[in-house]
Amino acid sequence: MKAAWISDAAGGDLSIRVGDTEAPAHADDRLLVNVEATGLTFGEPHWVTNGTMALPDGSKRPLPVIIGHEFAGRIAHVGAATNGFSVGDRVVGLIDFWRNGAAAQQASVLPSEITALPDAVSAVEASTLPIGALTAWQALFDFARLKAGETLLVHGGAGAVGTFAIQIAKGVGARVIATARGVEALALCRELGADEAIDTTTTRFEDVAGPVDVVFDTVGRDLLERSWQFVEPGARLVTISGEAEDAPSPERAKKLGIEAFWFIVKPDPAQLAEIIRWVADGRITAQVDRTYRLGEARQAFLDAESRAKRGKTVLTV
Ligand SMILES: NC(=O)c1ccc[n+]([C@@H]2O[C@H](COP(=O)([O-])OP(=O)(O)OC[C@H]3O[C@@H](n4cnc5c(N)ncnc54)[C@H](OP(=O)(O)O)[C@@H]3O)[C@@H](O)[C@H]2O)c1
Repeated sequence: MKAAWISDAAGGDLSIRVGDTEAPAHADDRLLVNVEATGLTFGEPHWVTNGTMALPDGSKRPLPVIIGHEFAGRIAHVGAATNGFSVGDRVVGLIDFWRNGAAAQQASVLPSEITALPDAVSAVEASTLPIGALTAWQALFDFARLKAGETLLVHGGAGAVGTFAIQIAKGVGARVIATARGVEALALCRELGADEAIDTTTTRFEDVAGPVDVVFDTVGRDLLERSWQFVEPGARLVTISGEAEDAPSPERAKKLGIEAFWFIVKPDPAQLAEIIRWVADGRITAQVDRTYRLGEARQAFLDAESRAKRGKTVLTV
């Protein structure tokens, strides 16, 4: 089958390759999916050092690794020990980062990683949800426990995760302040419902944002550090940037009287099913920045290095 994978660290050269490889084998506990669309994670090549992929949680796996872990497609084969899905079913899901991904004609998945996809949601839209929307959902609800009437500050509001964070937070009745860079990105944040949008290239968010209950950081570095200094006791600070070693210090959080979290999104079919209901009834819309064909995967990564992104880039298969 055709697939896109990371082969090596090749002296700084982008290590994405596209070619032919073995299709995944049948296994009793797995389902094979004919992939129709895969959301790209542009950070993946950066997880490779010395011929090994070091995942954000600190675990390692040898190369090559098929990229693209969020996908939508149709079931092509059901393992004998699985139930709940039949050949031909439309599904969407998130494959754990330690296994081969879905930038391929076929992917091998566990039933616990997928959920049914109704006809009302296209494969391209759906492929942006299992990382983009699910990460925002888990950050805002599982960690920050965001409620109606609270104020959320989201850093990187025009990104793949940030665009969902704005919409989900508005969907539960929170007030949303988003940071972004540039006129178009600010306009997108407002269009998605942000009550305020702050351009970090011209304005320090601390100077214009009032007190917030929750900060959700998808950018890291300086914005994250300044958020620590900005939050008031009782606030919740959730970041998804960086790696496990960059996770917030519990001591620092305790000293400030806040709660602080870093996490990696986990497959959750029930949460994903709820997100799909929100998409199907128009409460949230997937922001598809660009689509490329599977054979153009390397080009998609090269282009991404030099352009601003507004939502998710998707490979179609
Ligand atoms: N831990 C997890 O489970 C998890 C899950 C998903 C993603 N992530 C990580 O979270 C980060 C965001 O993911 P993503 O997919 O949303 O990436 P993305 O689509 O590239 O979005 C990042 C957004 O942040 C914006 N940004 C960058 N610097 C900024 C600044 N100084 N001020 C305001 N906005 C700024 C970017 O704008 P420009 O386009 O102008 O640069 C972009 O719109 C990545 O590091 C990713 O690896 C982690």
